[in-house]
Amino acid sequence: MKILNLPIVRALRSVQKIQPSQCSPSLSNNRFSTNVCQEEKSFYITTPIFYVNASPHIGHLYSAVIADCQNRYKQLRGFRTKFSTGTDEHGLKIQQAAETAGEHPLVFCTNVSEKFKYLFDTTSISYTDYIRTTELRHRLAVEHIWSVLRDKGLIYKGCYEGWYSTQDESFLMASQVGDAVDSSGKSVKISLESGHKVEWMKEENYMFRLSTFRHQLLDWLKANPNAVQPERFYHTVVQSLQDELPDLSVSRQKSRLQWGIPVPGDPNQTIYVWLDALVNYLTVAGYPGKYQQWWNVAHHVVGKDILKFHAIYWPAFLLGAGLPLPQSIYVHSHWTVGGKKMSKSLGNVVDPIERSMCLLLMV
Ligand code: ME8
Ligand code: MG
Repeated sequence: MKILNLPIVRALRSVQKIQPSQCSPSLSNNRFSTNVCQEEKSFYITTPIFYVNASPHIGHLYSAVIADCQNRYKQLRGFRTKFSTGTDEHGLKIQQAAETAGEHPLVFCTNVSEKFKYLFDTTSISYTDYIRTTELRHRLAVEHIWSVLRDKGLIYKGCYEGWYSTQDESFLMASQVGDAVDSSGKSVKISLESGHKVEWMKEENYMFRLSTFRHQLLDWLKANPNAVQPERFYHTVVQSLQDELPDLSVSRQKSRLQWGIPVPGDPNQTIYVWLDALVNYLTVAGYPGKYQQWWNVAHHVVGKDILKFHAIYWPAFLLGAGLPLPQSIYVHSHWTVGGKKMSKSLGNVVDPIERSMCLLLMV
């Protein structure tokens, strides 16, 4: 399929300067068992888990192709690999999308999750694990890490007041918010980064002591200059850590958000979707059971829109829980249409399956 050539070539060029493995491939007859080292090497790569608010587009496939290339490359170099992808199914955004569709959230999520799976199967994305955040194994992992963080005194009850974008499922500071006019001529507040509408919220929530991790995060980045690649994204993260980090709200009132994992011990609160979602990487590694083998060799592929979550929140949660940090976060940019990010919420998307069918018919 010609349409896949471009992302593959760009992925190989831009995402990582490939380090030659210490293991040289042998002339084994099995192309996936070429390791001539005594010690078996392991490699775990992840894609982001995709929101199921709408069908997949070519941008999602791009993330998956990049991870797929890395996974295949490592296999050829003799590594034992794990490659996970899947869907992010909780939170306000999905709750609202299911409501709009008039469907039970789980039915809605299953339908869209199947579309992502179908796309990856059709395009030979060779994932080894497909995770859905509505699975029991994931709920147990999230409940476990929550309890660890709470028992360490890193989660406390507080009152969050500030801007929230449901489309981005993100809390924003005043400096990240601007003015705009919506399609009906009404003045609205938007996220300067994504352009999505934001709302003022004030709620009693559980808060995570993110502020206490700023220096540890900077130390981690200083000691690991390849932790975030390519370099310009590394600098973006270091730069954003120069300012104080506010604590992070990690739950929502159940009256607002029902579609999610309840806070252990407090059924009136639901866990914030990003804490829930990021833990998927640990769930697939086997957490809280035997996760070390895969977790110690974890690498994430992410779009630049979700860098803050992966390079600040996620390492802070892991540091808090006493877990190792990911080996690297590979960041890619966006496919655009008319200068705007291709996105499910804007609807300016290219459906990869429909498009490849057109190309096939044209040849
Ligand atoms: O952010 N060009 O999910 P998501 C290139 N659920 N890549 C794009 C793209 C575009 N126009 N649009 C999307 C979420 N992507 C969360 C992630 S992970 C614990 C939770 C890619 O469906 C890009 O990698 O909105 C982006 O980060 C990813 O799809 C997920 O987008
Ligand atoms: Mg998105």
